[in-house]
Amino acid sequence: MIQYLTTHPWKIIEEGFKRKHHRSSESIFSIGNGRFGQRANFEEDYSGPTLQGSYVAGVYYPDKTRVGWWKNGYPEYFAKVLNSVNWIGIRIKVEGEDVDFAKCITSNFRRELNMREGYLVRTFDLEMPSGKIIRAEAKRFCSMADDETAAIRYAITPLNFTGTIRFQPYLDGDVKNHDSNYEEKFWEHVHSASSPASGVVVCRTRKTEFDVAAAMRIQVELNGKEIIPTYHHSHADFFAENNIEREVHQGETMVLYKYVGLVSSLNYSREELANAAQKAAERAIKSGFDSMLKMQAESWSKIWDLADIVIEGDDEAQQAIRFNIFHMNQTYTGEDARLNIGPKGFTGEKYGGSTYWDTEAYCLPFYMSTKDQKVARQLLVYRYNQLDKAIENAQKLGFKNGAALYPMVTMNGEECHNEWEITFEEIHRNGAIAYGIFNYIRYTGDEKYLSEFGWDVLLGIARFWSQRVHWSKARQQYVMHGVTGPNEYENNVNNNWYTSYFAKWCLQYTIEAMELLKSQYPDAYGAKVARYAFDETTEVKRWKDIIDNMYLGQLEGTEIRIQHDGFMDKELAPASALSESERPINQHWSWDRILRSCYIKQADVLQGLYFFEDHFSKEVIRENFDFYEPMTVHESSLSPCVHSILAALLGQEDKAYEMYMRTSRLDLDDYNHEAHEGLHITSMAGTWMSIVQGFGGMRVNNGQLTFNPILPKQWKAYSFNVLFNGKVVKVAVNKDGVQISE
Ligand code: BGC
Repeated sequence: MIQYLTTHPWKIIEEGFKRKHHRSSESIFSIGNGRFGQRANFEEDYSGPTLQGSYVAGVYYPDKTRVGWWKNGYPEYFAKVLNSVNWIGIRIKVEGEDVDFAKCITSNFRRELNMREGYLVRTFDLEMPSGKIIRAEAKRFCSMADDETAAIRYAITPLNFTGTIRFQPYLDGDVKNHDSNYEEKFWEHVHSASSPASGVVVCRTRKTEFDVAAAMRIQVELNGKEIIPTYHHSHADFFAENNIEREVHQGETMVLYKYVGLVSSLNYSREELANAAQKAAERAIKSGFDSMLKMQAESWSKIWDLADIVIEGDDEAQQAIRFNIFHMNQTYTGEDARLNIGPKGFTGEKYGGSTYWDTEAYCLPFYMSTKDQKVARQLLVYRYNQLDKAIENAQKLGFKNGAALYPMVTMNGEECHNEWEITFEEIHRNGAIAYGIFNYIRYTGDEKYLSEFGWDVLLGIARFWSQRVHWSKARQQYVMHGVTGPNEYENNVNNNWYTSYFAKWCLQYTIEAMELLKSQYPDAYGAKVARYAFDETTEVKRWKDIIDNMYLGQLEGTEIRIQHDGFMDKELAPASALSESERPINQHWSWDRILRSCYIKQADVLQGLYFFEDHFSKEVIRENFDFYEPMTVHESSLSPCVHSILAALLGQEDKAYEMYMRTSRLDLDDYNHEAHEGLHITSMAGTWMSIVQGFGGMRVNNGQLTFNPILPKQWKAYSFNVLFNGKVVKVAVNKDGVQISE
């Protein structure tokens, strides 16, 4: 654990510049609005270690695959979320001396992410090598109210001198990705222009040909009054800037406002793009910083009204849950069915900003309960829109007859991950996608979704499973070989219980959904039968045979479901036997050692018991939890939340609380030593689930919400809301009991 941030219920605060952790802070203090996002990089120059990151939703680059040994079926590329035009840049000179934060002495540094109102602010005093000291405050936000705009207010006060201050606000599209495989540039210059107090830059991605346009408008104030300085401006390929210089007396404050418009070709034609960005910047400057900030606070207030979770008596837990909810909302708003939720959102490059099973398995419940129903539906439609590609993907691997294998990692429906054990073997993602449909319908009652889009996806998935299993003569049962379960610390295993159980369930659910269509939407069903050449008699017969005869390992004389063949032969030892210096093992052990060990990266059998809790008795869940959890190292961000929920169900309150703190403060306390790469956005939804489903015990049964709350002893009280059937249900738990109201 690395703890350097101050605890506060509504804020994340860094007191004093923690140089060593700057890259982690750049992730943690990120801001975004669903349309674009920005790491907490400094506006002014900084020559110290940094990961520059400005990301625009849906804009990606197919970086050429780099692998040691090519395997047939590998996708040609790995899609990367792109570091895009730098719109925050403001170069500063003090009496001709460049301000480079890394080369100055900093004091009174404070960085604050105000989650209630949605802005980032940094205050500091900087002593230049010459001894001149300035006091500065930089505040910025990505507008939620007008998601094509952002604004920065940068104020400077000379503390011990009178002299010239020069601001050089700029836009720079000549940026790189840190994780580029071949050091290639991903962007081409399209257009740039500048004029007094404004500038625009348009760039195009190579290969995918997305255009992004950024425009800026500038305003300057001295001691609170607008001034019209001489603006020197210039532009070059990828670049546009303005220069404003002014003598500022000691104790006076000069403020630069930078209003930004940022748009992409996802929403505008190429011809319109530069103009659209300029218009957005124009809207921002007309509105003005304070009024934009007010609207920002109002937008966030509406979000918090529904999504906030209040925890009394435990500020660390309170800060953490708000941090998670804040970032979820900055990442995805549900406005656009082409977008999805990348595991790092807009906070880093790793995982490419692509879509994983994380969306259905972890994020969906959060959006279902805290947003209008159409938001969750959008997430499902995203997969429906990619069904053809999932069928193509399965075909490439040798499957036929409309079998669909959704990619483990995708931007546009094509697989874009290239580690064989993940690309070819981590097929359980198909299960999560089917479960997402089931979960959505269970929660919303929107069965019509099946007749419109849902069953098509289920059919493709059922066909896949029916071809992926094979009959074992020896066992006289169906088996599934060559699989990687959710526990990625074990590859190419046979009969992974989780995947096999899911396959069986998917077939069963597809049949149930088919019966529903036949009785309630016969026309839609008929059309689908024709469209997909569905041979009900033969196909369903095989599915039923698999359902009845699927091999699912269970340890004799116990209720323990065997993670996969051979697991019980391992040297079984608890993770507590590992020394702190060996953890996380993925940073200290060889991969070979990890694979041979019994250590489990994240819930595997337990993930299945979490999804299908109502198929098993509590005793079965307990026996498996007590067996597997001690061997789990929780080195995937997705792990602690599921364990927290199960522990709460089993009445293991201390474990539930420990796991809650771990999931919710994963990045704030940097448990896995990787916050510098970006935040774990998708697991943040799991944090929300740990409270609502875990401590709150929320379940949906036969169209009814039920709660079975417990109160962790560290808390005085907690409360949350969920949107259900169009109504807001308020749940408040304290030492005296539970109150549920509408
Ligand atoms: C986990 C996967 C997950 C991915 C993205 C990996 O570390 O093992 O289950 O989908 O991260 O979050």
